[in-house]
Amino acid sequence: MLKGKSIILGITGGIAAYKGAALCSKLVQAGADVRVIMTESAAKFITPLTLQTLSRHPVYIDTFEERDPSVVAHINLADHADLILVAPATANAIGKMANGLADDMLSTTLLAATSPIIVAPAMNVHMYEHPAVVRNMETLAQRGVMFVEPGTGQLACGYVAKGRLAEPEDIVKAVEMFFGRVGKLAGKKVLVTAGGTVERFDPVRYLTNDSSGKMGFAVAEAARTMGADVTIVAGRTTAEPPAGMTVVRVESAQQMLEAVVSRSDDADIIVKAAAVADYRPVRKLDQKMKKTGESLTVELERTTDILQTLGSRKRQGQLLIGFAAETEDVERYAMDKLTRKNCDFVVANDVSAEGAGFNGDTNIVQLYGPEGLIASLPMLTKREAAGRIMEIAAAKLTAAAAGDGGQAE
Ligand code: CTP
Repeated sequence: MLKGKSIILGITGGIAAYKGAALCSKLVQAGADVRVIMTESAAKFITPLTLQTLSRHPVYIDTFEERDPSVVAHINLADHADLILVAPATANAIGKMANGLADDMLSTTLLAATSPIIVAPAMNVHMYEHPAVVRNMETLAQRGVMFVEPGTGQLACGYVAKGRLAEPEDIVKAVEMFFGRVGKLAGKKVLVTAGGTVERFDPVRYLTNDSSGKMGFAVAEAARTMGADVTIVAGRTTAEPPAGMTVVRVESAQQMLEAVVSRSDDADIIVKAAAVADYRPVRKLDQKMKKTGESLTVELERTTDILQTLGSRKRQGQLLIGFAAETEDVERYAMDKLTRKNCDFVVANDVSAEGAGFNGDTNIVQLYGPEGLIASLPMLTKREAAGRIMEIAAAKLTAAAAGDGGQAE
């Protein structure tokens, strides 16, 4: 399943380091080329020889032990990795990653790497819940780092609580999902738009909106976790796009239209989470506008509705999902958008409600299909909400392929 994939396995110093051996073995059995980097503390829990034997490659611990003079080891490793998996990741390792520290072979390689990263934390429950650790993980997640959540069970410190390293089988599954080999959307193409558009008056002034891109990015990440091949077309965002997918940057509604339409034909699911400007300045000046009179009137014209364009050319079996941000009459407006733009479902939210809307990390959404309300989700993090939305989308896609219209939830 992982044939041809080059994976760096970083093992850090917790008692769960011993599970790194089973993990390494399973990755190698799945066909991956695994290079192990251990911290010095990890080597106190499990011998490098074990990992060398299982990976069939030398194990790296010391940054300054340069065995091959023709390369710089940490740069060479970083450059050739398709994925870096840190498992188990201690609170200290997570803290160093979040803050960009590089004081050993693993942290230095992580800093030199541009490849996607999966982290499987393992620690005492109070450490896992400590605000510093929570914040460090949030920082990493925003940077596109993926997590395999620890399980609940007997911890080495005696507590029965959350913090136990996920089972090696589950970590391998997460790796396979990342490479799009398994999952409910394996083999499917998902196109997601995110962020707000920028409509310029002149080279330095523009109209835009408060969209952070977080919801669209969370949807893209959820689709990737479910095994899809994901492309994001993103306008202006404050959040960072997730790793492991194609990201196309655009500025205006017109550029987004062109980028999306040209990629829409082979997409199985299209999610229009972007906040696209409905109007743009009629005239865009090539030079900076000079002030003249006491007031200024700028004439605006309608942009092309991308969702409606996609709806009018939707092919058989393609699932089109729109978003509707409202401040009143959510159901009526959402149903109107659904029919007008020929969507399969619309994700609606009341942006005036506490815990919903543009810049925050949570959202409260309702999903409307041709049959009316499909699902009403409680307040969830945008990532959780995105997971639920894509679960429903995957169920609809499967049901549509089976020809029964797809009642989800
Ligand atoms: N949308 C689009 N192209 C546009 C405008 C909006 O694709 N030019 C999409 C958004 O990505 C979103 C949905 O349409 O999926 C939002 O619908 P829209 O009718 O634009 O909502 P509002 O901008 O809130 O407009 P209205 O004034 O009709 O409520």
